[in-house]
Amino acid sequence: MTLPKFALYENTETALGKSRAEAVVIGTLQGGKAPVLAPGAEAVDAAFHGKLAEVLATLGATGKAEEVVKLPTLGKLTAGVVYAVGLGTAGEDGTVSPEQIRRAGGAVARSLAGTARAVFVPSTLDLQAAVEGVALGAYKFTEYKSDAGDAPVSAVDFVQPADGPARAHKAALKAATAVAESVIIARDLINTPPNDLFPASFAERARKLAEDNELEYEVLDEKALKRKGFGGILGVGGGSSRPPRLVRVTYRGPKAGKKIALVGKGITFDSGGISIKPAANMDHMTSDMSGAAAVLASVVLAAKLKYPLEVTANIPLAENLPSGTSYRPGDVLNMYGGKTVEVLNTDAEGRLVLADAIVRAVEDDPDYLIDTATLTGAQVVALGNRTAGIMGTDEFRDRVAALARATGEGGWAMPLPDELRGDLDSRLADLANVTGHRWGGMLAAGIFLREFVTDGLPWAHIDVAGPAYNTGGPWGYTSKGGTGVPVRTIAAVLADIAENG
Ligand code: BES
Ligand code: MN
Ligand code: ZN
Repeated sequence: MTLPKFALYENTETALGKSRAEAVVIGTLQGGKAPVLAPGAEAVDAAFHGKLAEVLATLGATGKAEEVVKLPTLGKLTAGVVYAVGLGTAGEDGTVSPEQIRRAGGAVARSLAGTARAVFVPSTLDLQAAVEGVALGAYKFTEYKSDAGDAPVSAVDFVQPADGPARAHKAALKAATAVAESVIIARDLINTPPNDLFPASFAERARKLAEDNELEYEVLDEKALKRKGFGGILGVGGGSSRPPRLVRVTYRGPKAGKKIALVGKGITFDSGGISIKPAANMDHMTSDMSGAAAVLASVVLAAKLKYPLEVTANIPLAENLPSGTSYRPGDVLNMYGGKTVEVLNTDAEGRLVLADAIVRAVEDDPDYLIDTATLTGAQVVALGNRTAGIMGTDEFRDRVAALARATGEGGWAMPLPDELRGDLDSRLADLANVTGHRWGGMLAAGIFLREFVTDGLPWAHIDVAGPAYNTGGPWGYTSKGGTGVPVRTIAAVLADIAENG
């Protein structure tokens, strides 16, 4: 999907005068019974003789988060309709958070579907958050629909914030556009069904993105994986007629400072393999390559925003299916780098492909390692659908978790309790791929991965089993299906490392 076209106007008067918008969008805040108009709505209010808040209250508006109330202008403005979108309650200091703005932008963008042009007049808003919210809220995946329904809003005009230089506003618009484009790259990959997105076709899409963005690209096919000893990826991918791949995409920035290795789980479909999953909701496992999509999209974003960093996405791709050539419970895999793993459950496949890719990633001698995966159902049990579980080395884990919350994607630091390591001991091999009990399943997966990470390397493991895929209805700027989480978290971490080391 292409983004709406965004334009900036100097002030509300020129925006309302010059924009050929059909709809004018104002913000409302929750106060008491009646909504309070957010700054910027004055000119619109004047057209309603100063009674806009009152009229909105009559229509049931309260200003609560993501509420959208429509009002005809009856010729009082050139735009035919006012959209009043709720921002929720302002903070104690009267401010509205970037996430409140992003969600309101997303909610109103969804209800603007079918509108050609809208003009946003809230004047003090965080422009970057507003544009991100609108761009992501407008997203709809209709690739496979004969009738795509109402087209997303195609042009959105903004009033630039009153303070700060125009240059800064242009930069904010550019950054927001790049962020939204990358999140959408991830969403499109996740939403593509597994009959069309399999290891080789994912690798081809990555090649195309690398070419378009002047990134280095490397792919290992099944023969190369065999030659080099990637037993984890080959084991998991062995049951499918569509063989596995390991893709690496590198961005080398201008005066590249720190080196960051990203690793993303790329299971293009997870049936569980011989340890097959129940039929109910198995289709959700089309999203089991969300980590791969996120790290690929993050490297593209690093390039678009020209971060002074070197960033490599390591993407192990495999399809986990049962067949006569599948790996089986009881097998011992020779992992890349020499460790052996006894497979006790073929449905704990993500950690096997990640382990191989992590060992490959640390060969580059990075300063930081971030891996992300739809790794465990236990993540969803522990933290729900909207909060990623973040594990790893103490300091870096906490830094990533704080940034995850700052972006609005959400995340919480989780421990890696040493006592679980013993539960991964194997009768035959260096370790087993599961503990044999259900307790702390998200943490056990993290403990397994830690065995493959170099000691002392700052490392964060982001389990997004819940947050990567929205099985409910759309909310805020989050569409149905692939969400693109944790692209914005990774982007924030990269920006933070670029600035502070
Ligand atoms: N891809 C799944 C995890 C998952 C579950 C992601 C629900 C999204 C939603 C993963 O490969 C898996 O099957 N994990 C097992 C591990 C178990 C066998 C130790 C799980 O969580 O049940
Ligand atoms: Mn699985
Ligand atoms: Zn999986």
